[in-house]
Amino acid sequence: MNNISQTKKNERLSLIEAGRYIVYIVSKRKDICGLIKESLKKTVDEKKIAVLKDIKDLPFSFNADTYIITENDRAYIAAAAGISPKRNVKLFVYADNLHDLNEQDIIFLIKHNIDRVIHSKNIDKLNYEKFIDAKIFKKKHYNAFLEKSSTMLDDLCHNNDDILETGGVKIYGISQHIKSVTEKACKIAQSESSVLITGESGTGKELIARLIHNKSARNFNPMVSVNCGAFPEGLLESELFGYKKGAFTGAFTDKQGRFDLADKSTLFLDEIGDMSLSLQVKLLRVIQEREIEPIGSLKTKKIDVRILSATNKNLEEMILNHTFREDFYYRINVIPINLIPLRERKTDVIVLIYYFMKKFADFQNNQVYGISEDAFNALLNYGWNGNVRELENLMEMLVVLNESGLITVKDIPEKYFKEKKGDAGEKALPPDAGPNFNFLDKSVKINLKDEMEKTEFGIIRKAMEISGGIKEKAAKMLGLNRTTLIEKLKRYEKNKKK
Ligand SMILES: Nc1ncnc2c1ncn2[C@@H]1O[C@H](COP(=O)(O)OP(=O)(O)OP(=O)(O)O)[C@@H](O)[C@H]1O
Ligand SMILES: [Mg+2]
Repeated sequence: MNNISQTKKNERLSLIEAGRYIVYIVSKRKDICGLIKESLKKTVDEKKIAVLKDIKDLPFSFNADTYIITENDRAYIAAAAGISPKRNVKLFVYADNLHDLNEQDIIFLIKHNIDRVIHSKNIDKLNYEKFIDAKIFKKKHYNAFLEKSSTMLDDLCHNNDDILETGGVKIYGISQHIKSVTEKACKIAQSESSVLITGESGTGKELIARLIHNKSARNFNPMVSVNCGAFPEGLLESELFGYKKGAFTGAFTDKQGRFDLADKSTLFLDEIGDMSLSLQVKLLRVIQEREIEPIGSLKTKKIDVRILSATNKNLEEMILNHTFREDFYYRINVIPINLIPLRERKTDVIVLIYYFMKKFADFQNNQVYGISEDAFNALLNYGWNGNVRELENLMEMLVVLNESGLITVKDIPEKYFKEKKGDAGEKALPPDAGPNFNFLDKSVKINLKDEMEKTEFGIIRKAMEISGGIKEKAAKMLGLNRTTLIEKLKRYEKNKKK
């Protein structure tokens, strides 16, 4: 070995002794490694900068579509750099524009164990410590999960692509729940049946309604929405049915109602739980007869409208309290879709954090390039009573106010640390808790013991999913001994076979 390469090797070794990482930049752009190196030099002594390599020097070809970087490759890279394969080798991908990263790319990054994505705008601001510490995802917790569900991820992305093509609705999430809701919505879109979408505020009810409309044969006309909670009773009636000039004081011209506007399309009755009982009677007639009569008009008009409704209220309870009509309920609820709260689908939180970060960074032309692990964990463990909307708003604030490029715990308001998992107030039900029984149906017989078992299994299944199938982790999460958990799992397996 000549002197120069021996010195280089020693230099590398001293970096390793100092606990530094060997950094490889995997990039499709050849000039980028030099730029990154220059930028890092501004914050640290050049000697402390680990080896930077260009893509052309990698021992394999980098192809985002097909190549999977394995642990063996990492070991190979380490060996090529003259270090122990056990040492840290970090892989970074350079992206010209974060916008270029689509869902597939993000999944690619997780699958291939890529440690960080660097945005071109941030090269000037790179700080060595941050450069090393930032991560997009907390990989060690989710690798196991993602490995198992990579096929599912691929399926979902494929679905999302279809949805996007049909009309610009993009539903992000990798939980089994969001996958089955999306699939159900696509399937029933083809029918003419009325759909009632339920779920807590901010869970994505309107998004699902839009998806159903956009995937339906009625998508050549825009969906017409009415927020039933936003109008006083009389006004809502004229908004829905329209009126003739002179029908009442102030009716200076004819007004077309929303039912009429939604002819040959879809009418989305949002917050339907806020509709008065008397208006429910009128709507029931319209839905049965498929004709409307504008206020002050003597003529009826045939209409061809598909009805989607949504509410965050418990309509069955309202029926028992006589504040919602049972006959109307069965008219609008031919096909039910229930969206579970975000805190019960943690895997979606991961995807949504990244999605909103990217969306607002692009939108604001902001230089945010990542979120620290601690900050990421805080968000993952939070109760999210305001569901996706709350997460969306928080991410917008974090991106707009961010100056360093990296979102850290210091940026996150205190309340997000206080409200930990399972401490999110009344609404923090355990996963799958409280199945929605129809107590109005007299034929329904409920065996409480069986139902409790089902709920218990639902919780265990979720814990197993979140812990990537690792029983020890799941047991800890549930406050159980590992052996107790194993016994319970065996019992459920046995019951399933019966
Ligand atoms: N899976 C998702 N992927 C991407 N964005 C989502 C998702 N779910 C919800 N959102 C976004 O979160 C916000 C709230 O969603 P939406 O308005 O559909 O909720 P909602 O259930 O109708 O709420 P509310 O009951 O308060 O009316 C919207 O900006 C929506 O685009
Ligand atoms: Mg809504």
